[in-house]
Amino acid sequence: MNPNENKQSNLTYEELKMIAEYLQKNTKYRPAIGVICGTGLGDLINALQDPNTFPYETIPKFPVSTVKGHSGNLVFGLLSGQQVVCMQGRFHYYEGYSLNMVTTPIRVMHLLGVKTLIVTNAAGGINSSFKVGDVMILKDHISLLSLAGENPLRGSNEERFGERFPSMNNCYNKELRQLAKNTSNELNFSSFVQEGVYACVGGPSFETTAELNYLHRIGADAVGMSTVHEVIAAIHCGMKCLGISLITNAAIMSYDDDNVVCHNEVLEVGKKRSKDIETLVTHFVQKLK
Ligand code: HPA
Repeated sequence: MNPNENKQSNLTYEELKMIAEYLQKNTKYRPAIGVICGTGLGDLINALQDPNTFPYETIPKFPVSTVKGHSGNLVFGLLSGQQVVCMQGRFHYYEGYSLNMVTTPIRVMHLLGVKTLIVTNAAGGINSSFKVGDVMILKDHISLLSLAGENPLRGSNEERFGERFPSMNNCYNKELRQLAKNTSNELNFSSFVQEGVYACVGGPSFETTAELNYLHRIGADAVGMSTVHEVIAAIHCGMKCLGISLITNAAIMSYDDDNVVCHNEVLEVGKKRSKDIETLVTHFVQKLK
């Protein structure tokens, strides 16, 4: 089979429903909270009690992740006593998937009953006050792909998920952001927790210095290659979202800076700070009760 074959073929409502029913038949969990574990943040799964793991390749019709450092499992379990479903590894546009395919798990989560989505990612820091290892709570996003017409909702609208023209105001829910900030203050994390705007690029090449300066000028504090598509699909089907970026590298804004960003650096920082993000998400989820 051509390995790209299922990367473009959008699933119908009935197929998505079939995936959700398959999962419900094989798990006792009925989660209202979904979590996407981004690059290097897959350890969050270790905090789950009584996990029930479905490797992506065992779920009928489900896409399969192809990136080094990204495991591919859908994991149900208890986090702070709450039922959750976590994506350990996500799908990226740069892997060749259509954005509709990238967001397939979000629609499945919706059909499973998920109402709140916590999305994490690794990102490059553009804001000069950000340090490597900082955690940024997303206040808003700039989707360069959406602005250019590449959107997970492009194509005929499935009314059973949501309306044709969904509003993106408050897409990173104000109350959830406040709750995350309160949680980080209580944990004494405020010295490394920031808030800002996440810009999404297609990747997989990292940005040029000129592109990073452009992103800075249009109001981005951090840049990455994920998250916004999932959030658009989640908002479309009525979920509330919280976004968390781990700043794994500083964007190279000057031609005099001879540093080079690389994927291993991103993974290394992810490993170092992932415990704190795990703690933040665990305490945050406890407050959602
Ligand atoms: N750019 C884009 N995506 C990223 C980066 C970056 O600098 N760091 C981690 N993901």
